Amino acid sequence: MSTNGALAGRTAVITGGGRGIGPAVATALAEAGAAVLVAARSEDQIAAVAAKLRDEGLQAWSLHCDVADPDSVEALAQGANERLGKVDILVNNAGIASGAPLHRQSLQEWNRIMAVNATGTFLCTKAFAPAMAQRGWGRVVNIASLAARTGARYISAYAASKHAQLGFTRCIAAEMADRGVTVNAVCPGYVDTDMTTHTIEQIMAKTGLSEQEALGSILATTPQRRLIEVEEVAHVTLMLCSEAARGINGQAIGIDGGEFLG
Ligand code: NAI
Repeated sequence: MSTNGALAGRTAVITGGGRGIGPAVATALAEAGAAVLVAARSEDQIAAVAAKLRDEGLQAWSLHCDVADPDSVEALAQGANERLGKVDILVNNAGIASGAPLHRQSLQEWNRIMAVNATGTFLCTKAFAPAMAQRGWGRVVNIASLAARTGARYISAYAASKHAQLGFTRCIAAEMADRGVTVNAVCPGYVDTDMTTHTIEQIMAKTGLSEQEALGSILATTPQRRLIEVEEVAHVTLMLCSEAARGINGQAIGIDGGEFLG
């Protein structure tokens, strides 16, 4: 797929843009010609991501945002519109994860995960998508997870939040279908980021396995016996933002090596 200039004149907000998948998505969209704004809680990280892209001659800015906080999302919408003029593309990438068996799953942690992964997606989409519909063009890409389509031990809160994110994706896709806006979910398996490193550390702490063994236990569930690279997620996100993808709406696109075949 040639992406050069494919998004020229477009503007994009990427949440959770400080590390991991977010910067890779921001880079792909910016390299395709979009002006991008990365938003997350970690101000130093997002400022560094935007500065690196600007150093490469691309259009990039950063803005602090906690997607779980309605006031913060409102400030993001205002700041993004001031900086970019309009927002054509929203990538709901901010997310958190943790694991626990049901009897140790606290309500506080359940609520924390729901607030970022599910409610954050709702708040940000509500802040940006209606204006896209008014202008007659827009793209919302929700970075969900394999856990949006299937379940596994010890990740009930995370999987529930990602199922909520995918259900929301399908509903807003239906609402926006005749307004020039598409809303889709990308569903990666384990990606090589800090989030997966943390999962490996948790497995090591709870089981006494070595790092290699803990990684091996994760890879054993993946058909391709490897972690997904952030660039693979960025590539699919970019594709969904393209003009040619205008017929793809309300979909959950798996990037899991064939782990989910439903
Ligand atoms: P990461 O932990 O490396 O980065 C997460 C980013 O989200 C950081 O920039 C962080 O500051 C930001 N963030 C967290 N809470 C936030 C909040 N309340 N408001 C604003 N920003 C916030 O995670 P990674 O791996 O890059 O994950 C990105 C997305 O991809 C998440 O939604 C995650 O659930 C999803 N995903 C990750 C997979 C993995 O194996 N790493 C697999 C499938 C999906």
